[in-house]
Amino acid sequence: MRVNCEVNGVRETVDDIWEGESLLYMLRERMGLPGAKNACEQGECGSCTVYLDGVAVCACLVAAGQAQGRSVRTVEGLTPGGELDPVQRAFLDAGAVQCGFCTPGLIVQTHDLLARVPDPSDAEIREALAGNLCRCTGYEKIVDAVRLAVRRRAEQ
Ligand code: FES
Ligand code: FES
Repeated sequence: MRVNCEVNGVRETVDDIWEGESLLYMLRERMGLPGAKNACEQGECGSCTVYLDGVAVCACLVAAGQAQGRSVRTVEGLTPGGELDPVQRAFLDAGAVQCGFCTPGLIVQTHDLLARVPDPSDAEIREALAGNLCRCTGYEKIVDAVRLAVRRRAEQ
């Protein structure tokens, strides 16, 4: 099967997609975009979070064929000029990155949260990130990172 879609602002055509292939597999294995991580492949961990038509989704749960004619934005697409997105910078500065496996999914999910809710409460932060599992940080540094990103945006 052939899939035509836009990925990070570029029109792409991908051939030989097999039935049941996930969007995550297509991005990572066929398109050289390893930002979205494959941790559970069951929609449980959020490590594979990407935007599909502007909505944050678990790419492991989306069939590659569902991307036909649609727009995908991955964590790589948040840094088109090579500069870190403010959310990425805040995660680094707050010490919210340890092994980093969960980080791309958390970055996309936080990016989505702040686009919808510019000044989220702690409860809103925790609820928005509830589907993103991290084995390393204990989550406090992650919440600190989101707060830092919010503060910096307010100061800009
Ligand atoms: S790899 Fe998709 S939710 Fe875990
Ligand atoms: S930093 Fe290791 S899983 Fe989150």
